[in-house]
Amino acid sequence: MTKFFGNLHMVLVAGLVLALAVMFGAHADMVTANAVFRWLHLFFGITWIGLLYYFNFVQIPTMPKIPAELKPGVSKHIAPSALFFFRWGAAFTVLTGLIVAYLSGYLVEALSLQEPFKLIGIGMWLALIMAFNVWFVIWPAQQKALGLVEADDATKAAAATRAMMFSRTNTLLSLAMLYAMVNANNG
Ligand code: HEM
Repeated sequence: MTKFFGNLHMVLVAGLVLALAVMFGAHADMVTANAVFRWLHLFFGITWIGLLYYFNFVQIPTMPKIPAELKPGVSKHIAPSALFFFRWGAAFTVLTGLIVAYLSGYLVEALSLQEPFKLIGIGMWLALIMAFNVWFVIWPAQQKALGLVEADDATKAAAATRAMMFSRTNTLLSLAMLYAMVNANNG
């Protein structure tokens, strides 16, 4: 048992088998491409926004309280790994979300904010802005701030502030984005 739970890959495979059992055992007539992409969309969305909230609720507020000699444990080990799942979670959330909209037949209508797809369109635009911030602002800034690319101390400090501000912006946008996502299909 310890060996099983100690192996993340095995646990994920077991989770996948259980998910397939639920899909084909309790939802067999409705396992369409749309259903599968909705499920994947939520998996990647949780990975992305879960890590966004980890950064904002846990890591950023706790860093100033960590003794200087322990900070590299976060900046050199935990943060780079969290950022990997964070940015790829964002990319796959966008991809699967756009696929769901396409398969649902309203991609263009939603993106141009036409009724009755205005709410999901607003959610999609908010999430697209957030994903843009992740890839083109937060990640490049974090690479400098964490020393993954060369930068002098002043540049590193400015990059850390920039990453924090855009991460906070995404936290701000996320509440409205989540309302739009979960209610687009509710009514
Ligand atoms: C650019 C990024 C995104 C796009 C293009 C997108 C697109 C969509 C679309 C088209 C739907 C289907 C709405 C419907 O039922 O008609 C949806 C549902 C949903 N999305 Fe997103 N989304 C994005 C980001 C996110 C994020 C970051 C989350 C966070 C967890 C999220 C969570 C959800 C949830 C919970 C649903 C409801 C699923 C359902 O009711 O079937 N989405 N999204």
